[in-house]
Amino acid sequence: MNERRSVFLRIIREVCADLGIECDVLSEGWIVLLQAYGRKGFIYSYSFGINEDSAAKICTDKYATFLILSQEGIPVVQYELIYTQIYRYRGNTSGNWKKILEFFYKHGRKIVVKPNKGASGKKVYFVENEVQLEKAVSDLLSDFSQIVLSPFYEVNCEYRVVVLDEKVELIVRKDIPYIEGDGKSTIYELLFTHDINNPEVYENLSRKNKLLSHILEKGKRIYLLQHHNLTKGAKVKIIERKPQIEGIALRAMKALNLRFGSVDIIETRSNKYLILEVNPGVTLVSVAIQGNYCKVKNIYKRAIKRWLQL
Ligand SMILES: Nc1ncnc2c1ncn2[C@@H]1O[C@H](COP(=O)(O)OP(=O)(O)O)[C@@H](O)[C@H]1O
Ligand SMILES: [Mg+2]
Repeated sequence: MNERRSVFLRIIREVCADLGIECDVLSEGWIVLLQAYGRKGFIYSYSFGINEDSAAKICTDKYATFLILSQEGIPVVQYELIYTQIYRYRGNTSGNWKKILEFFYKHGRKIVVKPNKGASGKKVYFVENEVQLEKAVSDLLSDFSQIVLSPFYEVNCEYRVVVLDEKVELIVRKDIPYIEGDGKSTIYELLFTHDINNPEVYENLSRKNKLLSHILEKGKRIYLLQHHNLTKGAKVKIIERKPQIEGIALRAMKALNLRFGSVDIIETRSNKYLILEVNPGVTLVSVAIQGNYCKVKNIYKRAIKRWLQL
């Protein structure tokens, strides 16, 4: 079991002890059975049984989420679905490539390609030329039958808004970690003082042609990652109020018929707020680890109380 999962289980066990719930951990921690006063429920991965199954399935499907949110006029990142099942329809000989290229050119030859049902930033490709596009699409379609294309947005930061029964429980801002030059230290020395040992950081630096021995100019910043995923090392900061994004998150949860979930919203360089994805599984372990253990525990406690009607 990884460290993140053991922190999650510790929180759930503590909540259960506080509420008098019997708690059985199964399958190396991946499934948790909760029982109290004749009622029972499962936590599977980070999904609580509080949500309707079909609503949760829609949220794990990025394209389906986009369709529902855009139909309701809620600001959302645009997605185009590419799927291999298209070949099964008799008579279809045109395939997907024309649609992919059209999307690429329509959006200024800078797009993102990723699995339709992906998570944790895995296999999210940033594509800027046709060779990269071809590689990304062929790699993804060899593993997944559905992928999505979206325009690339210059992102200032990403917010995660956690909602339970039409109430905002938490807003966190996710920032990509960066190093800032002092005109004396090398990139390597700056990384060392930040205690950063994620291999993706080094891959990202080499993609940007940054040598570790290079002395970084004073005030110059290098962003170390491409994705705002907490599992990849994004930094979190709790935000007390942010009415604009709270409103968007509440509308999205209502449109998707979700009771407990987290809404990820990007803030673009042009100061627009757009929903990137909605997660029916609420993962707050990184928020807990980064100094907010009690806050996170109380959110899970309130969700479990509502769910098991305690
Ligand atoms: N269209 C996009 N424009 C800019 N950045 C993006 C875009 N799509 C994804 N990203 C970046 O990639 C990360 C992961 O993408 P996301 O859609 O949340 O997939 P996952 O479900 O794997 O977390 C985001 O947090 C964001 O930093
Ligand atoms: Mg994400």
